[in-house]
Amino acid sequence: PADGLLDSYGRRATDMRLSLTDKCNLRCTYCMPAEGLQWLQKDQVLSREEIVRLVGIGVNRLGIRELRLTGGEPLVRADLLDIIAEIRASHPDLPISLTTNALGLDKKAQRLKDAGLTRINVSMDSLHPDTFAQLTRRPFLDRVLRGIEAAAAVGLGLVKINAVLMRGINDHEAPDLLEWAVSRGFELRFIEQMPLDADHGWTREGMITAAEVRERLSERFVLTPDPRNRDGAPAERWEVRRAEEPSIVVGTVGVIASVTEPFCADCRRTRVTAEGKIMSCLFSHEETDLRDLLRSDADDAAIALRWQEAMWAKPKAHGMDHTGLGAADFVQPDRSMSAIGG
Ligand code: GTP
Ligand code: 5AD
Ligand code: SF4
Repeated sequence: PADGLLDSYGRRATDMRLSLTDKCNLRCTYCMPAEGLQWLQKDQVLSREEIVRLVGIGVNRLGIRELRLTGGEPLVRADLLDIIAEIRASHPDLPISLTTNALGLDKKAQRLKDAGLTRINVSMDSLHPDTFAQLTRRPFLDRVLRGIEAAAAVGLGLVKINAVLMRGINDHEAPDLLEWAVSRGFELRFIEQMPLDADHGWTREGMITAAEVRERLSERFVLTPDPRNRDGAPAERWEVRRAEEPSIVVGTVGVIASVTEPFCADCRRTRVTAEGKIMSCLFSHEETDLRDLLRSDADDAAIALRWQEAMWAKPKAHGMDHTGLGAADFVQPDRSMSAIGG
């Protein structure tokens, strides 16, 4: 490989997604089993120093232009503020965002902002306490809503809300969720459920497709394509108007159709798991360890080279549909979403 994180299909990864922990304080059914997973030992997880060094290698040598911190749940990591502050100190202009379930965010939002966090995306699938508890197996909707409000109040950029719709559970809530988000200035994105649940319970029939989401929203809203460039983003965005007032754009909604309208051809992501393995794709079956190099006397150039080699082998597409490979080629990875980093 030449410069940057190029793959053999000509894509270049500039967006680094770094998982800070495999642990989580919710148990979303589309992600984790009720009993949780076998958590990593502390010394298996990258330390703050290792994380800061890896981000430096990514930015200074490999063309990384954006960083997203994920989990598990990144807020459960005790040294999160220090990690952000140290990355920020070395990279004043790097956009740093966080994907979180917002538990505890009410107490940490201001400090996260002060440490240098740019933006936040929150996973929130229902506005009904019982449905929320059914989906996440925890009765914490109030706390999540407080966290979201705190993020908005301290000015943590545009708050994006991620919602996965599950058939027969929260799919009827789509228009209510959108009304809630637009009235507060949040950008809601509906995400097609992907086969990344630890229980392997995903079925194609159970998944609410992007087309169904748009159909449900059209009961109450008029959606027209957002003219802004998609720019490699997973979400296809739509301008939202209320059906009764079709002259006024009230917000934007995104639909992330990973399964039925995949965006693999424009993918710009490189992922690092909490234990320091490069995954070139959410659905990679191969992982390349950087932690052993970080813990040896290898220099930055050697680490950068191994990262480049891992990305060169990035698969063309995940193969869940017919645009890339074929559905028959798809094998669900062993890792669940929480163990990869969302
Ligand atoms: P911004 O739009 O920049 O805020 O971030 P994002 O949408 O990339 O980040 P976020 O962590 O909020 O991810 C939202 C959803 O996009 C995830 O829950 C996934 O469903 C999906 N997604 C993220 N990365 C990938 C990927 O590499 N492949 C696929 N198929 N889906 C992804
Ligand atoms: N399919 C789609 N999205 C998922 N997430 C977790 N598991 C899945 C899945 N199986 C989403 C969460 C969160 C992000 C990190 O990943 O809703 O927004
Ligand atoms: Fe936790 Fe996120 Fe998985 Fe839900 S989707 S269990 S919040 S890691």
